[in-house]
Amino acid sequence: MGGSTNPLSLFLLCFTTFLTLFEVSISTDTLTSSQSLRTNQTLLSPNAIFELGFFSYTNSTWYLGIWYKTIHDRDRTVVWVANRDIPLQTSLGFLKINDQGNLVIINQSQKPIWSSNQTTTTPSNLILQLFDSGNLVLKEPNENDPKKILWQSFDYPTDTLLPGMKLGWNFDTGIEKHITSWSATNEDPSSGDFSFKLDPRGLPEIFLWNKNQRIYRSGPWNGERFSGVPEMQPNTDSIKFTFFVDQHEAYYTFSIVNVSLFSRLSVNSIGELQRLTWIQSTQVWNKFWYAPKDQCDNYKECGAYGVCDTNASPVCQCIKGFRPRNPQAWNLRDGSDGCVRNTELKCGSDGFLRMQNVKLPETTLVFVNRSMGIVECGELCKKNCSCSGYANVEIVNGGSGCVMWVGELLDVRKYPSGGQDLYVRLAASDVDDIGIEGGSHKTSDTIKAVGIIVGVAAFILLALAIFILWKKRKLQCILKWKTDKRGFSERSQDLLMNEGVFSSNREQTGESNMDDLELPLFDFNTITMATNNFSDENKLGQGGFGIVYKGRLMEGQNIAVKRLSKNSGQGIDEFKNEVKLIVKLQHRNLVRLLGCSIQMDEKMLVYEYMENRSLDAILFDKTKRSSLDWQRRFNIICGIARGLLYLHQDSRFRIIHRDLKASNILLDKEMNPKISDFGMARIFGTDQTEANTMRVVGTYGYMSPEYAMDGIFSVKSDVFSFGVLVLEIISGKKNRGFYSANKELNLLGHAWKLWKEENALELIDPSIDNSYSESEVLRCIQVGLLCVQERAEDRPTMASVVLMLSSDTASMSQPKNPGFCLGRNPMETDSSSSKQEESCTVNQVTVTMLDAR
Ligand SMILES: *[C@@H]1O[C@H](CO)[C@@H](O)[C@H](O)[C@H]1NC(C)=O
Ligand SMILES: *[C@@H]1O[C@H](CO)[C@@H](O)[C@H](O)[C@H]1NC(C)=O
Ligand SMILES: *[C@@H]1O[C@H](CO)[C@@H](O)[C@H](O)[C@H]1NC(C)=O
Ligand SMILES: *[C@@H]1O[C@H](CO)[C@@H](O)[C@H](O)[C@H]1NC(C)=O
Ligand SMILES: *[C@@H]1O[C@H](CO)[C@@H](O)[C@H](O)[C@H]1NC(C)=O
Ligand SMILES: *[C@@H]1O[C@H](CO)[C@@H](O)[C@H](O)[C@H]1NC(C)=O
Ligand SMILES: *[C@@H]1O[C@H](CO)[C@@H](O)[C@H](O)[C@H]1NC(C)=O
Repeated sequence: MGGSTNPLSLFLLCFTTFLTLFEVSISTDTLTSSQSLRTNQTLLSPNAIFELGFFSYTNSTWYLGIWYKTIHDRDRTVVWVANRDIPLQTSLGFLKINDQGNLVIINQSQKPIWSSNQTTTTPSNLILQLFDSGNLVLKEPNENDPKKILWQSFDYPTDTLLPGMKLGWNFDTGIEKHITSWSATNEDPSSGDFSFKLDPRGLPEIFLWNKNQRIYRSGPWNGERFSGVPEMQPNTDSIKFTFFVDQHEAYYTFSIVNVSLFSRLSVNSIGELQRLTWIQSTQVWNKFWYAPKDQCDNYKECGAYGVCDTNASPVCQCIKGFRPRNPQAWNLRDGSDGCVRNTELKCGSDGFLRMQNVKLPETTLVFVNRSMGIVECGELCKKNCSCSGYANVEIVNGGSGCVMWVGELLDVRKYPSGGQDLYVRLAASDVDDIGIEGGSHKTSDTIKAVGIIVGVAAFILLALAIFILWKKRKLQCILKWKTDKRGFSERSQDLLMNEGVFSSNREQTGESNMDDLELPLFDFNTITMATNNFSDENKLGQGGFGIVYKGRLMEGQNIAVKRLSKNSGQGIDEFKNEVKLIVKLQHRNLVRLLGCSIQMDEKMLVYEYMENRSLDAILFDKTKRSSLDWQRRFNIICGIARGLLYLHQDSRFRIIHRDLKASNILLDKEMNPKISDFGMARIFGTDQTEANTMRVVGTYGYMSPEYAMDGIFSVKSDVFSFGVLVLEIISGKKNRGFYSANKELNLLGHAWKLWKEENALELIDPSIDNSYSESEVLRCIQVGLLCVQERAEDRPTMASVVLMLSSDTASMSQPKNPGFCLGRNPMETDSSSSKQEESCTVNQVTVTMLDAR
């Protein structure tokens, strides 16, 4: 018996040989100190939830990372990266536990490029183990005490917070954990610009940083949620949030009850903080929550003592008893200078104003006593003359704890509901005006006022509706004719409808359904699918009023979807009405609105897609701008003029664009210009323009003086913007960028100067070769200057602009001085402070000075 080999041992022998020869991938969750993990091998957590291994997007940079084993959302979802900033250059590296007991990644030349760097005393037989939580742990075998762990990946988060990971501080060890975005999500894991970090000072809160600037804060934890995230649900059955603070630690973490539910918090490469949840049925990461969401989420949007309220117009308001520090900037919708007191404080006699539903001001420099009640807190604040306000720390059980601010109250915002109470110190006289405790009688006054306004508005709407109906009858025949003329586009729309893309139903006939037919409504799911669930990869840009995504319908047609920011301030019906009107505006120089999609309070506009994106991306790009020769530029100028003329005169509704600028000119395959974002003023209510332009003085570049100063808008303000655009197209320079290059003149001033000196051709972009007609260029410059004249009455209408552009015999007057908004007043250059730079002056001074030369 004993002599012969039995089949089993033979098999075992073969199997061992096989192992040593081929080093099949390590199919367990553990790496021992005698093993190494090569780039083609992985570790798998016990229930195959997470996988550890090397990955590469380029084949020239290799990273060690952890991803979900079962999720393949286009690409794998990487949740942790070891060597994000020091990649392996080839696939010939490996991971191992070295003799000092450190986890190291070794490169092709046997050099360690990354190390876990922990200090160990007895590095005997350590093991590396991957858990189902996604944690990678270096420890002694059979050692299950979490305190004895030598190193773990959960202590070094990358861009993702997984359940159980802590974001915050350990004061005993001085270790701080935060998440930092990738440089390019799903492409380049190296450290990006954005991070989400807990500030442990005062009442701890978490800040989102862009490089070294704070851009958003969560607000302090109020026992139930972050003060700045009112939509955060208190702990539910499926997810549990924890914010813990004591003298040893301060951290934020969350846990998921059902392990088969995947949820993570991460900051992406464009600075959006997102909670993503994997939806099994649709196999996509669902964006459950994100921030910053709106203008009021921007850190210090309204400055000190300002309150940001998305439901107000302008969004920046002063706390009652305060007024804008810089009324001019405030009127231009730039609230960042904040507010000052109407009445100085007189410590002993001051009172307090109660503000409800707010996000508490920044709490890094505050006094906190968690065992003090609100009454005692108020007494203490009143006694201390430098105390500017106070609030409860926690809101649960009627509120507890005391937080007191000294100095300015920063970054307050108001919510319709769900915020908390803040008591602000005011001079007694200001409190009397308002009434202490917010004044309940005041509230009822407000309600009455709102009631009256709503009543009046309803009446106006009714009158308007009757008028429109009456008008529509009269227009019926014109409409019929237009519909026939629409020809091709109408047919393609039919096609889309037959494919079931539009939810409106063609079968229904008769007058009563006319309205629905006029509203091409896209199904929300269609849009979601077309834009790949609004994925970041599909993002075309962040325009005014919302984010734009590229999408592709099942039929292969490309579309651009504008997801309107939530605070569009308009009801669904008005929105539908506006869309119906705008869909009818069709011209070869307007971007076509194909329709809209409405889902709950979410509104979306669907546009045709423009291959060459926007003019500014080409015109102001050093390398790309040379593709725009003079003929193309002239064609673009004429196209914009025709599109604008159509909006102003020829369309059935007179539309003032209000926000004409290079980034709103899109280019199709043949570089034909198409104006976009027209009608947004209607959709968003009349007095809102793009929030972004309002922020920085420089982007006022397209604003006519009468608008910048008095908020007066007319077709002539559009003409002004058109003039700026013309001069930008000719010179290839931004009106605004120009001003920072030359402290004295902006582009308009420069063009005007050259014109006066009869050197106007010097304005032309050097990247245009010599193949241009001098008279054409001069004509365009003259038109541009005529359009930017200071007095609106002097500017031509678009009809005469089109005429002047198209005929070289049309008579043209000599332009007068341009009106413009200068970044700084040249007379005060020397004494200028940084504040001076932000003031906007429509400048006769400059012009007179030029005339004198
Ligand atoms: C993994 O890569 C190594 C070289 O790095 C190679 O020798 C080995 O055959 C590969 N194993 C498998 C299973 O592909
Ligand atoms: C990397 O190499 C793999 C296999 O050789 C190849 O299929 C892939 O296209 C390469 N990727 C890149 C970005 O070069
Ligand atoms: C390996 O790493 C060492 C040290 O960082 C470096 O000097 C060497 O160039 C690397 N070798 C390769 C092939 O990347
Ligand atoms: C390890 O320490 C070295 C030297 O102190 C440092 O350059 C390296 O960045 C550290 N690596 C990690 C992963 O912390
Ligand atoms: C956990 O979630 C999965 C998938 O959603 C579900 O099938 C399962 O019943 C849940 N388990 C528990 C204990 O709730
Ligand atoms: C906090 O307030 C309580 C109650 O008023 C008081 O007893 C305690 O001394 C205070 N603690 C500090 C640190 O001020
Ligand atoms: C007021 O409170 C602040 C913050 O606690 C403290 O630093 C300051 O000394 C107090 N001033 C007075 C006069 O009590």
